[in-house]
Amino acid sequence: MIETNRLVLRLWREDDILPFSEINSDKEVMEYLPKCLSLEETEQFYNRIVAEHNAFGYGLYAVEKKSDGCFIGYVGFHHFDFDADFSPGVEIGWRLARKHWGQGYATEAAKACIDYARKHRLFNEIYSFTTVCNRRSERVMQKIGMGRVSFFSHPSLPKGHKLEPHVLYKLELPDENFGIGGKSIDEIKHNYKP
Ligand SMILES: CC(C)(COP(=O)(O)OP(=O)(O)OC[C@H]1O[C@@H](n2cnc3c(N)ncnc32)[C@H](O)[C@@H]1OP(=O)(O)O)[C@@H](O)C(=O)NCCC(=O)NCCS
Repeated sequence: MIETNRLVLRLWREDDILPFSEINSDKEVMEYLPKCLSLEETEQFYNRIVAEHNAFGYGLYAVEKKSDGCFIGYVGFHHFDFDADFSPGVEIGWRLARKHWGQGYATEAAKACIDYARKHRLFNEIYSFTTVCNRRSERVMQKIGMGRVSFFSHPSLPKGHKLEPHVLYKLELPDENFGIGGKSIDEIKHNYKP
């Protein structure tokens, strides 16, 4: 679906579940997430990802290396609706297998997702957030041009949990051919009732 120099971002297949489960059970990958996932939990996560693609036409994409076709994790979009003043909204997120970190893959894939969202006018703004200790993930947010807007306590985590403090980033996706709220001036004029 989405191609970069080195990667293909595609819809998911059932044979992604096992390698995805390996990623989700790796303590290092999951260090800044609430817990490692069992195979069953990975299957449930897989089903939620597929359902989100079916509902919206976009979501978290399975990331594959072009050089060898290897599945290395996900990058893409997710609708969130937890209790926060910037919610509900769409976030961009990433999770890659440990052995593929540090080669710019997350940044390359995330930039391509942003370009895709802009081109297809999927939404006008996108968020990303992570626990404040996750500097690697925050660095990816910065490298794709997002700006830090605030800090917040993630409401899904218990009060006092070490991962509770989060940093929030945002990117506006203005479309120069469009006016306020993604509508063209002609559309606004047409629907305008004084
Ligand atoms: C976050 C993650 C997707 C990044 O993947 P990646 O392909 O290694 O990312 P990139 O190579 O594109 O960029 C990583 C950047 O972080 C930097 N970085 C790495 N470790 C860092 C650290 N401890 N502190 C600050 N920056 C760090 C890298 O140097 C690089 O920046 P640079 O290009 O300016 O040098 C990957 O580490 C991962 O899957 N982590 C586990 C899952 C996760 O935490 N997901 C986010 C949950 S919100």
